[in-house]
Amino acid sequence: MLNIVIFGPPGAGKGTQSELIIDKYKLVHLSTGDILRNEIANKTTLGIEAQKIIEKGELVSDDIVIGMVKNKIEANIEGNGFIFDGFPRTTEQAEALDRLLEENNTSISVMISLDVDEDELVKRLLKRAEEQGRKDDTIDVIRNRIKVYNEVTSHVCNYYSKKGKYCPVNGTGTIDEIFERITAVIDGAETKRPCCCG
Ligand code: C5P
Ligand code: MG
Repeated sequence: MLNIVIFGPPGAGKGTQSELIIDKYKLVHLSTGDILRNEIANKTTLGIEAQKIIEKGELVSDDIVIGMVKNKIEANIEGNGFIFDGFPRTTEQAEALDRLLEENNTSISVMISLDVDEDELVKRLLKRAEEQGRKDDTIDVIRNRIKVYNEVTSHVCNYYSKKGKYCPVNGTGTIDEIFERITAVIDGAETKRPCCCG
C-alpha cells in the first residue's frame, strides 16, 4: 500500500494537490475537514458540535477525528492506499494513525509537507472565501487557524522527521510545478531510493 500524509498550514494546497495525487496513484482521499463539513451539512449531532469549533478555527478533539479516520480506513483497506489530508493535526493523532495502520498491517510511506509563507496563505484563503464562501475563511478565523497550526500542528513534522518520513516540498509556484515536486518525492519513496526526507 502507498499511504501518504499531505501536510501543511491552511491554504498550503493540500486539497488541490490531493486531487491530483489520488488520480495518479489511485488512492483513497481521506480529508478529515471534508468529513466534518459533510457532517455539518447533514446537521448530525457531531456536525452541530464541530461547526462551533470550526467556525472559531480551533481543533476538534483527537477522539472524534481518530474515530472518523478509523472508520474510513477500515472501509477502504482493500484499496491501493490512502492520502491523509488535514490529519494528523496533533502528535497524538499521528501516534493513533500509526497504531491504526499497524493493526491493518500497513504504515505511512511518506509525509509531504507543503511550505508556503504566511502572506501567501492569507491571500489564497481570502480568494477561496470569495469562490467557495467557507465560513472559516474570514480574516480573523484564518489568523487563528494559522496560529493553531504554528503552536500545535507544526510539531507533527518532528514526529515524522524522527521516523525519516518527513519530506518538505516548496508549495509555491503553479499547481503543476508543485505536483511535479510531489511526484518526485512519492516515486522516490515508492522505489525506496533515498529521498529528501529528514
Ligand atoms: O483540513 P481543513 O482545513 O479542511 O479543516 C477545516 C477545519 O476543520 C479546521 O480548521 C479545524 O477546525 C477542523 N479540523 C480539525 N481536525 C482535523 C481536521 C480539521 O479540527 N483533523
Ligand atoms: Mg483542505
